[in-house]
Amino acid sequence: VFEREYDGPTYSDSVPLVDAEGNQIGENQLEMGDFMTVFPEPRPGLEDAPTLLVRFPEEQYAEPTNLEFTVGGYAAYSKVCTHAGCMVANQEGQTMVCPCHFGKFNPVQGASVVGGPPPRPLPQLPITLSSDGYLIATGDFDGAVGVQG
Ligand code: FES
Repeated sequence: VFEREYDGPTYSDSVPLVDAEGNQIGENQLEMGDFMTVFPEPRPGLEDAPTLLVRFPEEQYAEPTNLEFTVGGYAAYSKVCTHAGCMVANQEGQTMVCPCHFGKFNPVQGASVVGGPPPRPLPQLPITLSSDGYLIATGDFDGAVGVQG
């Protein structure tokens, strides 16, 4: 099913998160408060899924974050803005910002909208750690990616 060979632990529906160069993301990749862009390794239905990986102390996460989708302080959200599909690319303090119309999302509250025109949160990607310490996605986003048709 995978387009690339994956020789890590086998989960029936899991794929590694990788950076733009294809490197896997270790559990110590981010400091608390940091953001980075990652991609679940391509698989059908998830070929083009730029994702924002964020890391915060676990106690900072609040509703409506799905805590079962977080691990080690990491949470992952679609990078595709729910307003008009731009890439959410900027960081303003602890807020994720879409540069197109300044949509703002709170990463510790389930990427809920805290400013601008986006109509709904960025969907969250369920992640966990593999037994050898790499972040993996265990399923699909919990909502439609991008602009809802
Ligand atoms: Fe992101 Fe408009 S596309 S705020």
